Amino acid sequence: MQTGHTPVLLEETLKGLSIKPDGRYIDATFGRGGHARALLARLSSMGQLLAFDRDPSAIEAGQALAAADRRFALRHANFADLDLVVPVQGWDGILFDFGVSSPQLDEPERGFSFLRDGPLDMRMDPAHGLSAAQWLAEVSESVLSQALFEFGEEKHARRLARALKSRTLQSPFSRTTELAEFIASVVPKTGPTHPATRAFQAIRIAVNDELGAIDRALIAAEKCLRVGGRLAAISFHSLEDRRVKQFIHSRSRPPVVSRRLPPPASHLTLIDHGKCLPSAAEIAANPRARSAVLRIAEKRA
Ligand SMILES: C[S@@+](CC[C@H](N)C(=O)[O-])C[C@H]1O[C@@H](n2cnc3c(N)ncnc32)[C@H](O)[C@@H]1O
Repeated sequence: MQTGHTPVLLEETLKGLSIKPDGRYIDATFGRGGHARALLARLSSMGQLLAFDRDPSAIEAGQALAAADRRFALRHANFADLDLVVPVQGWDGILFDFGVSSPQLDEPERGFSFLRDGPLDMRMDPAHGLSAAQWLAEVSESVLSQALFEFGEEKHARRLARALKSRTLQSPFSRTTELAEFIASVVPKTGPTHPATRAFQAIRIAVNDELGAIDRALIAAEKCLRVGGRLAAISFHSLEDRRVKQFIHSRSRPPVVSRRLPPPASHLTLIDHGKCLPSAAEIAANPRARSAVLRIAEKRA
C-alpha cells in the first residue's frame, strides 16, 4: 500500500518497543501509519493499538485501517493530552515519531513548504491556533527574534526579526514563497540549504508549540506505561532529541547530591536503553532519515 510517508528506523523501533503479541500499544504520531501497520503485523488478535494524530488529514488517511482492523483505533488529539485522552495505566509501549510527515511537507496547501507556494499556514491542526501568517502579524519583535534563534538556530535572528516585523506592519505575508523570498533577501545564503530553511523550521515549531507538546507528552507517557512498558521516541533535530535525552536521563540517573548522603531513588522511574541511529543504507534509501535519532526507555518497578 502506498502510504506517502516512509517510516524511519522501523525495525529498530519495533525491536526497541520489545513488542508482545498480546500487548496494548500507543502510536502517538500516526502520520500515514507506516509504524502503526508494522506494529499491527506483530500483534496477535488479542493485541491493541491506539493511534493519535493532531492532523485531520492523517486521521482521514487512517479511517480505512480503523474500519478494517478491530484491534486498531484512531483519535484526533494532541499527544500532549495523552494522559487525559486514554486510560492512564497499563500500556506496554508508546511510540512518538516527532516532526512533520512527508504529505504535510509535500502539499503546498498546508503552507509548510518554502519551495512550493501555498497559503502561509503551517498548522498541523488547521482548526486550532494561529496560522503562521497570523502569528507573524501578532508576535512581538523580541519573541520572534528569540524563536528564530532558539527554534531555528538562526544566527541572523535579530536582524531578520526586525526586518520581518517592519515588513509585516506595512503588508502582512500571506504566501509561503513570498515569505521565503523576503527571508532570502535579508539572510545571506551559506551552504547548500535555502536561506529560509531555519526560519521556516522556527516558525513551524512556534506555531504548533511542538516543544511544549513534547515536554507534556513525555511526562504523560511515563504515567501511562505499565512497569516494564517501553517508550520509543524518534527525533529529527537536536531541539527534540535534547528534550527526550534530558527527560530520560532525569528519570534514570540519580542526581548528583552530597557524597555523604545516599542518592534518592524514588524519582528513578525509567531504565535508559540508549539511542539508535539510521544505517547508511536507510539514509541512502530515505534521505529524510539522516537526522533521525531513536531513544528507548523502559518503565521500572
Ligand atoms: C513524522 S510523522 C509520523 C509518521 C508515522 N510514524 C508514519 O510512519 O507514517 C509525524 C506525525 O505526528 C503528528 N504530530 C506532530 N505533533 C503532534 C502532536 N503534538 N500531537 C499529535 N500528533 C502530532 C503530525 O501531524 C504527523 O502526522
